[in-house]
Amino acid sequence: MKQSDEQKLTLTRDWWKENAADVPRLITATPGPRSKEMHARAARYMKGLSSQVKLFPVCFEEGYGVTLTDVDGNRYLDFSSGIYVTSLGHCHPKISEAIAYWAKKLMNAHDFTTPVKEKLLEKMAGVLPGNLNAIQLYSDGASAVEAAIRAARAITGKHEFISGYRDFHGKSMAAVSCAQMIRGDVYSYGPTRAPGFYMVPRPDPYRPLWTRADGTIDTDQYIAFYDQFITESTVGNVAAFVLEPAQGWAGSIFPPDDFFPKLKAFCEKKKILLFDDEVLAGMGRTGEYLCMNHWNVEPDIVTLGKSFGNGFPVTAMVLKEEYGEALESISASSSYGGNPMACAAALASIEVIEEEGLLENVRTVGAAIMKRLEKMKAEHPIIGDVKGKGFLLGIELVRDKITKEPFAEAGTLVYQKAFQRGLAWIPAGHILRMSPPLIMDETYAMKGIDMIEDAISDVEKQFGYV
Ligand SMILES: Cc1ncc(COP(=O)(O)O)c(C=O)c1O
Repeated sequence: MKQSDEQKLTLTRDWWKENAADVPRLITATPGPRSKEMHARAARYMKGLSSQVKLFPVCFEEGYGVTLTDVDGNRYLDFSSGIYVTSLGHCHPKISEAIAYWAKKLMNAHDFTTPVKEKLLEKMAGVLPGNLNAIQLYSDGASAVEAAIRAARAITGKHEFISGYRDFHGKSMAAVSCAQMIRGDVYSYGPTRAPGFYMVPRPDPYRPLWTRADGTIDTDQYIAFYDQFITESTVGNVAAFVLEPAQGWAGSIFPPDDFFPKLKAFCEKKKILLFDDEVLAGMGRTGEYLCMNHWNVEPDIVTLGKSFGNGFPVTAMVLKEEYGEALESISASSSYGGNPMACAAALASIEVIEEEGLLENVRTVGAAIMKRLEKMKAEHPIIGDVKGKGFLLGIELVRDKITKEPFAEAGTLVYQKAFQRGLAWIPAGHILRMSPPLIMDETYAMKGIDMIEDAISDVEKQFGYV
């Protein structure tokens, strides 16, 4: 096949729609007998499974658009997009074809330029804000974060990093050092962190540390705390703040709108870089290519992953143009990063977002979901807060709306009960996380919320709230 033979599929936004009444479709109790048997055989060897799997050991065999089908033939509505990954729908035909084309033509050529890489780089520079256009490609989020930390050290000649409590940045040594790993309900830190990595509180609108007289979050106090922290607790060699723009793993927590603009000004004053880890929140999930676009802040370093290749392992580290030279000194390339299949997946994914008008879909359907969540919050005694933007959403469960005591036991049960009803999603202790594929329309989205609300009502009955 010649390069010119490459297929260019353009589909309508509804390519994935089937009979809505058939979603979900449960033909056994779930997880079903084949799932249980297969999982038990795999778990004999596979160790270190996530709580998501341990709490609901289903075996999936097929994904199409917004649905997943298990080995027993049960079809689930997908409210997790893998794990924020298959955001344009499972096996989007355009993306699958683009990968398959290069799988048959050229799988790897180290970091030599290929036609599809050249197109992807130009496309990325076009959709990213400002002069964020010095790019390197990787195959997992942690590698991109790791490279960005090396780049920040090379750019600044400094070696200290500050991240936020309950941030998550991946599982390599440096990435874990910027994260607060979650073990069940317990946030552990300390032994997992390398020297020179620090953590500070970041504003959580539901649980603020500092408020003004009118009850709004006092973001100036957070910045003042960072200033004092740098003076008193670091050796004065801070290279970067490493932050998620909105905290995904912690439960879809968005800071107030004035936080990042103030933090950026503070970083500029202190000559500290702002590293914005958009692996989870980026590429359309919040209705913008970068979540940071909501606040018109241009970071110095950005990492992209998950949705970036819609399931094909491809990630990116992007720096402001003026920092591009630093990548020469850190030997930035890798064996698989930017291989033709990866570039094809990422390029087709951006084209799909554009062609199907998905940023707009995320904004409008996301707003409809949020309206429904607000209503649920008013009606349910254990819903303390609802939060999010676009399709990065959360419901915080509490034992008591006044004390705000987290209700992790309820979170686990709601996760399992909604899954049993046919909703594939993600547990996160007492905060229920929702990240539907960006293609989902309001009808399907409300089906998912119905399953969650039914599960919450069940749990409220079980604990004697109603
Ligand atoms: C914000 C953020 N950064 C980095 C990572 C690491 O990505 P990966 O699992 O591809 O290594 C994750 C994974 O969840 C993430 O949420």
